[in-house]
Amino acid sequence: MVRKVLVTGGAGYIGSHTLVALQEAGFEAVVIDSLCNSSEIALQRVQRITGKPVRFYPGDIRDRRLLDQILTENKIHSVIHFAGLKAVGESSQKPIDYYQSNVAGSLVLLEAMQEAGVKRLVFSSSATVYGSEAPVPYVETLQTGNTSNPYGTSKWMVEQILQDAAAANQELSVALLRYFNPVGAHPSGLIGEDPQGIPNNLLPYIAQVAVGKRKELSIFGDDYPTSDGTCLRDYLHVMDLAIGHVRALEWIEDKVGTEAFNLGTGRGISVLEIVRAFEQASGVPIPYTVAPRRAGDLPAFWADASKAKSELGWVADLGLEQMMVDTWRWQRENPQGYNATHSES
Ligand code: NAD
Ligand code: WQD
Repeated sequence: MVRKVLVTGGAGYIGSHTLVALQEAGFEAVVIDSLCNSSEIALQRVQRITGKPVRFYPGDIRDRRLLDQILTENKIHSVIHFAGLKAVGESSQKPIDYYQSNVAGSLVLLEAMQEAGVKRLVFSSSATVYGSEAPVPYVETLQTGNTSNPYGTSKWMVEQILQDAAAANQELSVALLRYFNPVGAHPSGLIGEDPQGIPNNLLPYIAQVAVGKRKELSIFGDDYPTSDGTCLRDYLHVMDLAIGHVRALEWIEDKVGTEAFNLGTGRGISVLEIVRAFEQASGVPIPYTVAPRRAGDLPAFWADASKAKSELGWVADLGLEQMMVDTWRWQRENPQGYNATHSES
């Protein structure tokens, strides 16, 4: 029997790529998304890639009536929960919005799942839950917390809520996926990351410089205690991350309780290495200047991803070059993101 997965936030960057991986693995996907940070065109593109339909409910996860309707109309087997706000800087300006969407939204979803008897959940968590003092590489057994912004705290809070919920309900099965730095795009060039306004994250910024939308990159600090002075992060290809969700769905199938998994490559790459790799993949020079450090940035962190390998059978297969080539293809072929196209079929 085909298993139906409710994907909250499925029109977003990671959600849309995960829809492709889900459909290719034989799952059926139902999406709820408010489109507050995405476009319905992403869903049309997913259908173009896979040739399979995605059932879409436009709306907010805090709309309990809509969630009930979705769970009644579709025989949902499990949920992948991406929906939420994700801009770290903005979360300090609008903390209530972040707790509302990320924490209250997750609670409404959990209540609706409980009432409908849906017992399996994969949650989009983040390496940010390890906080500012954790030693590297981050391993799942480290204590979490000590987060430094409302976004990170909201992810940490939802992890706590899910652990308590699973402890109280012996039937609940939850995978907490702690992503490191997802980059890249589907190799078709049809879907990718489409940030609104000035990109906060490194790769979308570089790609917009390459396509002429921004003048130059500012590198936030070159005096960190790393080999070239710029920060190290664990960048992983979004298609690898998407497959990680399929593995997690398979894993929670016959488990109960809550389990956390780091999804990363296990390798720290510097900002300068990224700039050079992008230039090489695209053939486009990326002008940059060195700017002061960005508040809240940690010098270096990467994953110990051995648990995902041993438990989920998942490893990040795609290398840095592929991440850059695919980022560039997406940006080059969609210089205005999804905005340039009004509707597609
Ligand atoms: P995204 O903004 O592209 O996707 C989130 C989607 O959720 C968007 O389509 C948005 O419209 C939708 N959404 C937001 N609030 C909603 C609500 N209340 N109801 C319904 N839909 C809502 O972000 P993404 O990069 O795809 O991230 C997906 C998830 O992964 C998020 O929870 C994010 O916090 C988490 N995450 C992302 C990263 C990253 O670097 N991209 C890293 C770690 C964790
Ligand atoms: C990467 C590196 C910057 C932009 C954030 C969240 C994290 C997670 C992923 C969700 C850093 C440098 C960046 C620029 C730069 N999201 N940089 N110039 O900060 O590791 O992680 O996104 O959970 O929670 O904090 O990613 O892409 O913003 O930055 O020099 O214009 O690039 O200083 O060293 P980050 P990022």
